Amino acid sequence: MEITLESIQQLKKEKNAVILAHNYTLPEVQDAADYVGDSLGLSRKAAETEAEIIVFCGVSFMGETAKILNPDKKVLIPEPRAGCSMASMCTASQVRELKKHYPDAAVVAYVNTTADVKAEADICCTSSNSVKATSSLEEKDIIFVPDMNLAAYTARKLPEKNIIPFHGYCSAHHGITAWQIEDLKMLHPGADIVSHPECASEVLDISDYIGSTEKMIDHVRESSKSEFIIATEVGMLYRLAKARPDSRFYFPPNALCQTMKMTDLRLIYRALTEGKAEVVLDPEISRRARIPVERMLSLR
Ligand code: 13P
Ligand code: SF4
Repeated sequence: MEITLESIQQLKKEKNAVILAHNYTLPEVQDAADYVGDSLGLSRKAAETEAEIIVFCGVSFMGETAKILNPDKKVLIPEPRAGCSMASMCTASQVRELKKHYPDAAVVAYVNTTADVKAEADICCTSSNSVKATSSLEEKDIIFVPDMNLAAYTARKLPEKNIIPFHGYCSAHHGITAWQIEDLKMLHPGADIVSHPECASEVLDISDYIGSTEKMIDHVRESSKSEFIIATEVGMLYRLAKARPDSRFYFPPNALCQTMKMTDLRLIYRALTEGKAEVVLDPEISRRARIPVERMLSLR
């Protein structure tokens, strides 16, 4: 049976479901979604929705965050095996060890973490509010997990804080090198370099703009340039090309998050018809994790 966008829309109405999708998902998934955005925008939508069912198209920590914010709703991840390699680098016991070593430090957890890790944090952050979230804490010493690159970016913006990074990273972003970007710049000298803060400092140092996926799109939409070197995951091309059909976008060759591509229309259809796969969290972990997530969402 052919699964069409129309059949998904129909099912969504019948089930009172909302479909949320990250900017890196497949074009067909973005087309089926009610909202496409970055982690912060998606968390806000998940917190606000009145739908009974949330179908989260992205990776597992995103579905977990939606469940943390909506413990009484059904949250479905169409492909439950879609993990985030960075999130799986950091465990709650590692964070507890760090807290023992730095008893005066507060903990900032990037949303790219499991619910157990969030439960250990004072505040969560995304790539769009890491500086605001970290500066909102009174403590000078900050344990920042799990992304060492986002930690370094945040530390540079906040020299008054002593940031203690965890040494995790995203393989898609950490694999982007300055020489790849410089090569692209040599081929396209008029292009702006637009980067995600999960990239290494050597890439950020040569960038014209740094921001979350949604902020990158906003920057491109408003730019007077018409050529852009994009240092993030290649799935962004779909949104970027829609925002600026007159422009050209150049990506480094290896920036691919395979798990973001695992969700497709067929799996969304299965999620809506069979209720698979439901996000289930330990209620006590979920209650503790909600505190830092809501603290982040209260930042304006
Ligand atoms: P954004 O919040 O910027 O969309 O980033 C999420 C992510 O996983 C980047 O790799
Ligand atoms: Fe995780 Fe990297 Fe994929 Fe983002 S791009 S979901 S950080 S593995």
